[in-house]
Amino acid sequence: MKIVVANSKGGSGKSTLVLALADMLPYVQVIDLDTQGTITVGACYTKRHLPVSEEEATAKYIIYDTPPYHGEELRSYFDTADLVLIPVKVSYPDLLAVKAVVDDLRAVKMANKGVIVYNEVRKPHNKTYHEVKALLSSNYKDIKKATTELSNLVGFARILAEAVHGQAKQEILSLIKELNILL
Ligand SMILES: Nc1ncnc2c1ncn2[C@@H]1O[C@H](COP(=O)(O)OP(=O)(O)OP(=O)(O)O)[C@@H](O)[C@H]1O
Ligand SMILES: [Mg+2]
Repeated sequence: MKIVVANSKGGSGKSTLVLALADMLPYVQVIDLDTQGTITVGACYTKRHLPVSEEEATAKYIIYDTPPYHGEELRSYFDTADLVLIPVKVSYPDLLAVKAVVDDLRAVKMANKGVIVYNEVRKPHNKTYHEVKALLSSNYKDIKKATTELSNLVGFARILAEAVHGQAKQEILSLIKELNILL
């Protein structure tokens, strides 16, 4: 199963979601398409999920981390993906930025593979949270939104230091279950 994690908005939580999923899935390999090399450099310290090349990727689950920009190159990865996860922080700048990745998905007729995953959600929910979610629902009816939301948690913030744990681990397991990722 090929899972591409994408959003051209920098800092939306792509690399965090890639590592958290990789921590919880069996037989997993990660491909780092981002020249920033968050996961490649991170693996030197953590010894977790050292990325492989496309040729070396033979595991049951292959997760792609992608850079904070969009365009032709990324579209070719969407083309063969089973799932495109789009982590989105529930703010107005992030709402506006979603358009680019959704346009890319629609361009390759892969909107049905896209899933928005609300990330770094804080409680109590504020007015912006409700407004942005309503706007995402009305503007992107063709893109699924995961019911499982990822909270603002230290278990995610420390993903480059230690494997996902605590409530963050429970949320990732819930996301994996909801999206039927474990075949
Ligand atoms: N759910 C969360 N809870 C707490 N912190 C989070 C969460 N998700 C992401 N972060 C933090 O937000 C920052 C950006 O996350 P991350 O590097 O995963 O984003 P990115 O989309 O990969 O960024 P880039 O576009 O630069 O590659 C990091 O400091 C990360 O620890
Ligand atoms: Mg990243």
